[in-house]
Amino acid sequence: MVRWFPFSLVPGVALVGLSLLAGCGSPAASFVRYETWVRKVEKDTGDDKFRMKGAQLAEVDDLLAASFGTPDEPVIPAVEGAELLSLTKLKLAAGPVSSAADGSPRGLYREHCAHCHGITGDGNGPTAAFLNPYPRDYRPGKFKFKSTPIGSKPTHADLKKIVLDGIPGTAMPSFKLLTDVEVEALVQYVKYLSIRGEVERNLLKTSSTEIDLEADPSARLVSIVPEGATAEQKKTQQDQLDAIRDEIAGVFKKWTDSEAAAVEIKPDPRGKLQGEALAASQRRGRELFYGTVANCVKCHGDSALGDGTLTDYDDWAVEFITKTPDRQIIREYVAVGLPQPRNIRPRNLRQGVYRGGMRPIDLYWRLKNGIEGTPMPAVTMKPEGDPSAKGLTTEDIWDILNYVQSLPFESISNPFSTLPTAPERERSS
Ligand code: HEC
Ligand code: HEC
Repeated sequence: MVRWFPFSLVPGVALVGLSLLAGCGSPAASFVRYETWVRKVEKDTGDDKFRMKGAQLAEVDDLLAASFGTPDEPVIPAVEGAELLSLTKLKLAAGPVSSAADGSPRGLYREHCAHCHGITGDGNGPTAAFLNPYPRDYRPGKFKFKSTPIGSKPTHADLKKIVLDGIPGTAMPSFKLLTDVEVEALVQYVKYLSIRGEVERNLLKTSSTEIDLEADPSARLVSIVPEGATAEQKKTQQDQLDAIRDEIAGVFKKWTDSEAAAVEIKPDPRGKLQGEALAASQRRGRELFYGTVANCVKCHGDSALGDGTLTDYDDWAVEFITKTPDRQIIREYVAVGLPQPRNIRPRNLRQGVYRGGMRPIDLYWRLKNGIEGTPMPAVTMKPEGDPSAKGLTTEDIWDILNYVQSLPFESISNPFSTLPTAPERERSS
């Protein structure tokens, strides 16, 4: 079921046949190139005039097509760890909206997701510009609402929860009405697009930094072996192919590893609090919320309305425009497809609407892990055996969570400054 780059062919030739396989009447879909990232890797070379050559970009397109196929005919690259994806499942989600002869669906992704998330998974479907927050671009491989720490991929269960429950307070709908088979197929397709996107980033980066076409106009990531090539030339090509296979396997591995990376939920050592014990916990949580260690107030604001820090951007924008963007840079990236950057708003905690789910364990993970891609940090824990060190304990986390969960019911005319125990506060912005 798995294929690999048919390197005996001149890259490009292998693809011509694929377009003939698309459904009648519907134009074959193709992945769009990651132009914002191209611009970024060009800038990262430090030479403002540097532009990747057409041949470099075309080679990356070809390697991607050979490894991952097209939106209509996905391919799973033959690399270690690729068993993560199942072609049978991907096929239910791939392609134009239709059904197979036996009635099984096809094109689920295009039916349910692409108008927001884009055919390429670039988060830039036709509906995207109207939404705030924008739909997720899967290609950087960063996800917000997961059980795993920042830097890890979400688990399969995390992604499935998102698709089933949706993201309350955003345009991301719930897909509970789909069958389990369909949801599984869509989750697989999200992983497929994300892996493909991350590989695209890595290949573009390598191509921009390692290939010097001025010095050698025929330089490529994978050289073309001429008729009657020497053993050495063949070996070089083999090594280059191995390097790309390793590159792709590395991305698959991050997804496989995440399954064991879910952060353990430490229950409240005091058990389930009620009555006065719960009220006392909420009071402690309130002090921590406004205190200098947790410092939730810095972003979520004096009244927890989410109006503390309003000048931040999410990582998807920051990686291009930096934290303090100038207009010229924004214009440059918007011209190549970056959605117009908008400031990210810390959550209004008085609404009681939680994007990542409202179970105590969801909120525990949000605090313990932070929210990847956003300024919301993971809390600092007190190192074991050092009671004087700065940081929070498990009890502190539950105190804060008890307070956060009581916020929608707290009178807003009860500002923190009226608390007799108000600790010194540190406001950095
Ligand atoms: C109407 C627009 C819309 C549609 C349709 C839609 N999404 Fe989303 N999706 C969003 C938005 C907006 C976000 C970002 C929410 C945020 O950042 O808080 C999102 C985020 C996500 C995320 C990221 C979750 C995370 O933890 O970062 C995944 C995965 C996802 N969507 C999958 C899907 C799948 C699969 C489908 C189709 C079955 C789909 N979406 C359909 C708008 C949409
Ligand atoms: C540096 C700024 C910052 C700090 C400090 C911060 N947050 Fe946040 N928080 C955010 C942002 C931004 C979001 C919105 C992220 C998103 O896009 O989903 C958020 C979201 C949340 C959410 C919503 C989770 C969900 O599922 O919707 C909760 C709850 C929350 N923060 C609680 C806290 C608590 C409690 C603290 C203190 C321990 C804290 N935050 C500290 C910036 C911050």
